[in-house]
Amino acid sequence: SAQTKVDIEDQDSLLINRNIYGHFAEHLGRSIYDGLYVGEASDIPNTDGVRNDLIEALKNLQIPILRWPGGCFADTYHWMDGIGPKEDRPTIVNQWWGGVTEDNSFGTHNFLNLCEELGAEPYLAANIGSGTVKEFADWIQYVNHDGTSPMADLRKENGREKSWGVKYWGVGNEMWGCGGNMTPEYYANLYRQYATFMTSWDNETGLYRIASGANVDDYHWTEVLMRDVPHNLIEGVALHSYSFVEWGNKGDAVDFNEAQYFSTMHTALRMEELVTKHSAIMDKYDPKGNIELIVDEWGGWYDVQEDTNPGFLYQQNTMRDAMIAGVSLNIFNNHSKRVKMANLAQTVNVLQAVALTDGAKMLLTPTYHVMEMYKVHQDAKLLPVSFDSPQYSYEGESLPAVSVSASKDDKNVIHISAVNIDSEKENEVEFDLSGFDIDDFDAEILVSDKLQDHNTFDIPEKIIPKQFKDFKFKRGNLKITLPPFSVVVLESK
Ligand code: AHR
Repeated sequence: SAQTKVDIEDQDSLLINRNIYGHFAEHLGRSIYDGLYVGEASDIPNTDGVRNDLIEALKNLQIPILRWPGGCFADTYHWMDGIGPKEDRPTIVNQWWGGVTEDNSFGTHNFLNLCEELGAEPYLAANIGSGTVKEFADWIQYVNHDGTSPMADLRKENGREKSWGVKYWGVGNEMWGCGGNMTPEYYANLYRQYATFMTSWDNETGLYRIASGANVDDYHWTEVLMRDVPHNLIEGVALHSYSFVEWGNKGDAVDFNEAQYFSTMHTALRMEELVTKHSAIMDKYDPKGNIELIVDEWGGWYDVQEDTNPGFLYQQNTMRDAMIAGVSLNIFNNHSKRVKMANLAQTVNVLQAVALTDGAKMLLTPTYHVMEMYKVHQDAKLLPVSFDSPQYSYEGESLPAVSVSASKDDKNVIHISAVNIDSEKENEVEFDLSGFDIDDFDAEILVSDKLQDHNTFDIPEKIIPKQFKDFKFKRGNLKITLPPFSVVVLESK
């Protein structure tokens, strides 16, 4: 096995924003209805209709922020349909996701109360594509104004006295596509208009306004937003990029071969280049870094077969997804200077979900366990790493096999997360930690022999983190051996 030397720099000024460990739940397939929301009358134990097993699982992840209601759905959603007595709410057609009907029983109050229960910041994505400035401004007034006003009074009539103080607001979603097929110039103008009417009301910290950013490598989009939107009107720019099987975009969540795996990792690792290049454009217009890069949709996306697809974008989640999660989170951590939020798509039953449900049953995916292992990085100080990765080669092409990030928490505990995506080779990694006060390490590993391995409703704990002992620590020198397809997190003691 090859050996890699990693240098770790000690520093105190740059934090890994906890919001990098954010999530996203859209009205899509079985994400909300028959996913996280089962309804108050369900036999499945729930709190205001949200399943308790999921609430407990998300609390354990300490999810910092949850984005809702879309995605593409956001630009079709009229929030007033989802407030007031449930029996009076209109049934709507989910035009983006299969034309299914929804009764609006899960609305603004349900979502914001759920976030309160989870201790997570809500991130609301507003309808710009088919809504109005007034509708958007009213939503903010409804959720954020404590005084007397038409919207605050309506909220109180609907049973909620105190405002929720929502800080994070998306001004549309994918405005280059499902949000309205706009040019960046047109959207930048529209953004200016909408942002002008966004009042923070009683939110003491002010609003955090997020523009719909680029699709993958559309650098022109970022350039125009940074150039045309006055910087006092914007806090974040949201990039979307998924990992998938390229070259024909054919894939399956479980039945895939090494070529498809390699290709998926290629798109996952491309995040490094995307974040670097979008950040460089932002640096040019905003050298002080006041406007932040948000990756509010990321994760694996496979074209699963109809007969194995019980809901839209439902897909199984295997060790391959654990690899995507491990390398992506390392990239976000390492780019903490500009990247301040990332939202995995999506929480339940859609794309790279952390939980899958089947009636009363729920399983936690390998991705869940990566998020669980990595939560130690939330709000910790980034310790920048530098190293030359060994290569994972497949049919003449190669990718960096090892990915690493590290942090130091407020108790001076060091956390190192390392991933080996190689399909065959183990990789030895050596860390010089001579400058740190460390006696030893505890460590956990998520690993499986086959990338296709996954948890099932019958065997939900096939893939869970286990104690990891394959490391040596002596006189500030840490050596670990990473097996193929493994994610390891070490904690100093
Ligand atoms: O997450 C699924 C979809 O992917 C979202 O609705 C959209 O924003 C993106 O294209």
